Amino acid sequence: MLNGQKVLITGGLGFIGSTLAHRCLALGAQVTVLDSLAPRGGGDPRNLQGTSALVVRGDIRDASVVRPLVQAADAIVHCAAATSHTGSLDAPLESASVNLLGTLQLLEIARADRPSVRFVQVSTSSQLGPIESTPATEDHPERPTDLYSACKSGAEKTALVYHVAHGMSVTSIRLPNVYGPRARLDVPGPSVAAFFIGRGAAGLALTVFRPGEQLRNFLFVDDAVDALVRALIRPEVVGRVLQVAHDEHHSVLDFAHAVAAGIGGRVELVDWPAGHRRIELGDVVLDNTRAREALGWRPATSLGDGLARTAAWLRARERGEA
Ligand SMILES: NC(=O)c1ccc[n+]([C@@H]2O[C@H](COP(=O)([O-])OP(=O)(O)OC[C@H]3O[C@@H](n4cnc5c(N)ncnc54)[C@H](O)[C@@H]3O)[C@@H](O)[C@H]2O)c1
Repeated sequence: MLNGQKVLITGGLGFIGSTLAHRCLALGAQVTVLDSLAPRGGGDPRNLQGTSALVVRGDIRDASVVRPLVQAADAIVHCAAATSHTGSLDAPLESASVNLLGTLQLLEIARADRPSVRFVQVSTSSQLGPIESTPATEDHPERPTDLYSACKSGAEKTALVYHVAHGMSVTSIRLPNVYGPRARLDVPGPSVAAFFIGRGAAGLALTVFRPGEQLRNFLFVDDAVDALVRALIRPEVVGRVLQVAHDEHHSVLDFAHAVAAGIGGRVELVDWPAGHRRIELGDVVLDNTRAREALGWRPATSLGDGLARTAAWLRARERGEA
């Protein structure tokens, strides 16, 4: 499938990028990773230790580093991002610089030097903002409530312009709340999944803003990576946006209870901190029909299994074996 293909993964020392790198290597690809190990990011060199991936430490905004890597690539999966929702409100220019301008520069280098490259943009379902009609499809309006999501939306539209205007092979894959092995649990402004799993692993209170009944879509990282690999090899998804999501939805409270049961910690209901309510999305119920049809993909991992595999990985990492 990917045998002998040269795959460049930006942000490839991070949670999703490194898991994708392992999968691509297993499928016979030659993998190069570009990652700046951003101080507030989820990158961790241990994620690719002992693999044959070529790891280049550098910033996607540094054209002199990016250009030769793009020139040598058959495919690019663009995972690098400043991912904190609340952090983007504290540092909006940094968010725009990495998430929007960094993506634009990568695409522009590809257009100039490697226009035939396959380009997969990793986007986020949080671009939609509050969901108005459920289940939300790819056609749902986008009204993001934080700047990370707004910049990711802009990056997705920018990538699609390179398909429409320049004929490049671009696909955008929107992901929901992804959880699983290799997520760093100690970074500021974590995702809701990383927050609970980190607290659970430390045996701390899993603090849920009461009543915690809003629904979310939690997807195990291997399932997300499976969709990204399919997007790389299926020509029929060029020019498309696909929402890769689990069939099942769980409330934040249920997720916290599942983490307490599978990993550790105890659930505690608390009041909302100031400011959080304004960027809250309510129920996020997503439709995955198009991804199922176009990618021949389906989510394969239940929440219980995914958390059990995450717990096993946490124990292995503690022993220095992962
Ligand atoms: N984790 C999720 O739940 C989720 C959900 C939806 C979408 N996504 C998207 O998936 C992608 C990967 O997210 P993740 O959860 O693996 O995050 P992560 O923080 O674990 O990985 C991102 C990586 O990008 C690197 N990076 C940041 N800025 C960089 C820069 N300027 N130059 C080079 N590298 C840089 C970081 O060092 C980090 O290793 C992102 O594009 C994110 O928007 C993630």
